[in-house]
Amino acid sequence: MTYTRRQFLSLTAKASALALVGAPLAGLLPKSTRAAKITPGAALPRPGPSGLYGLLRPEGNLVLTAEAVPGLLPATGAQMLAYTATQGGKLWHNPILVLQKGQEFRARLVNALAEPTIIHWHGVDCGWQQAGHPSYAVGPGRSYGYAFPITNRAGTYWYHPHPHGLTAKQSYLGLASFFLVRDAEEMALSRELDLTLGVTDLPIVLQDKRFDAHGGLVYAPSQDDLIMGYLGAEVLANGARQPTLSAATRIYRLRLLNGCTARLFNLAFLRQGRRLPFALIANDGGLLDAPSSLEEVFLAPGERVEILLDLRGLAPGEEVALVNAAFDPMHNEGLGHGGHGAPPADPHAGHGAAPADAHGDPQAGHGAAAPAAPAKPLDEGAAYPILRILVQRKESYERTMPTTLSSLPAASGPATPGTPRSFKLALDRQANRWTIGGLTFDMAAHPVVVERRAPEAWAFAGAKDGMPHPMHLHGYFFRVDARQGSPGQVRERAVDAKGRLATDLGLKDTVLVWPGETVALTPDFGRPDYAGEQTFLLHCHNLEHEDQGMMLNVRVK
Ligand code: C2O
Ligand code: CU
Ligand code: CU
Repeated sequence: MTYTRRQFLSLTAKASALALVGAPLAGLLPKSTRAAKITPGAALPRPGPSGLYGLLRPEGNLVLTAEAVPGLLPATGAQMLAYTATQGGKLWHNPILVLQKGQEFRARLVNALAEPTIIHWHGVDCGWQQAGHPSYAVGPGRSYGYAFPITNRAGTYWYHPHPHGLTAKQSYLGLASFFLVRDAEEMALSRELDLTLGVTDLPIVLQDKRFDAHGGLVYAPSQDDLIMGYLGAEVLANGARQPTLSAATRIYRLRLLNGCTARLFNLAFLRQGRRLPFALIANDGGLLDAPSSLEEVFLAPGERVEILLDLRGLAPGEEVALVNAAFDPMHNEGLGHGGHGAPPADPHAGHGAAPADAHGDPQAGHGAAAPAAPAKPLDEGAAYPILRILVQRKESYERTMPTTLSSLPAASGPATPGTPRSFKLALDRQANRWTIGGLTFDMAAHPVVVERRAPEAWAFAGAKDGMPHPMHLHGYFFRVDARQGSPGQVRERAVDAKGRLATDLGLKDTVLVWPGETVALTPDFGRPDYAGEQTFLLHCHNLEHEDQGMMLNVRVK
């Protein structure tokens, strides 16, 4: 089915009006989950043996209940939506699932929301009926079973809802967490660097939020927000406001996920206002063949990077800030009716001229107190702090940064000469919706049909008068072959003659396409060789764009 914009908006309004109350299964949960008010601010919530974002190694059939949990959000103690799970007498919300390659994964989603939902395992190999296609969304009180073997290489994958038209809202209100796969190669690296998951190997999800006067989460996109993407007033790390990670003089591995609906990051580390280089070791599809030393990295919604941060050069008492460094967010669509739906009206105001790292003081800016009124969205391209890393302990640590990481060969360029299948990413100014090749989502249509054994070359072409789109393919990874027509701030980061960035070199499931840029890539529809015909999705991971229809079915024969 397709919706006109009006019908769609009325659907969205209805969906938002459905209060997320009366969770049918709420009564079955231990009382403690209802009272868990966490103090705002302070320490970075680290994945522990249970609780919010706790580490969970599934045994048997795991039940994940999507529900509203009062008091759960570390930043303000607000209610958030979460996947609740229990195992061995312990309780988790949004567990970080930890799986071993080769293991069998079995889970049941129980929908205790007041509207349809379904889980998508982002980046995880599984057939389309397991992968959260929106046609499999289940209504309130219903459930959906998943069972598949873990065939991915080790990597930082994740999971979030995927019901059409409701993905942004449900993800924004809290439903999302990590899905980590481990294998022998990656475990060897962990041993070599003496890294412990949850202690020195830290999954960190970055999400921006708007709050009401009581610290409650607000998801209320305006018409313009639906086109631009809904930007929050603050960026949270594992649900906390500018938290502090207490660290030692050693190497840390950070697994960073952009879990925002729309916000792009240009991440950097600052030490006394100066850039501290870090090693990029992995992206969407796991370890790269070799690390690259970077000073900043773009991270778009849906994308992951893993980095090694070496704190051995710091003295106890010193600190490093994870910040967004200023960049041009390139909203070139110029809607002509007020710009971005919220100040600043000029998309380029406030950051174009700012020195890159001018505002990197992690103590500056929005404090720990709840804002008195809904704050303005935080300018996407502004410099602002996210996380403070405070070195507090000296540790003798004599490991060396590895020079090779995995046996994955670097991307080598298109194996398939000829004209690629090209998808233009542009705004339909009549319908006010973003399109892929001129089309928007129709659950019943299959506009892209591929033969799994035939070679495919694809290209995404971002309209010049558009904005950046993180394009995501379900079910398969792809190699980025080249970037052409990249804007200066992208081109200057190219690591090869094909214009690729360091983050383009491994296996990708989401790739950011800038205005005026063409990104050539090679998806491999033969691997995994799923049984039977498949219907996967290609969509923009700006979740407002996705919900508005910037998504297509991809039939794999
Ligand atoms: Cu992470 Cu179809 O999405
Ligand atoms: Cu996905
Ligand atoms: Cu988009």
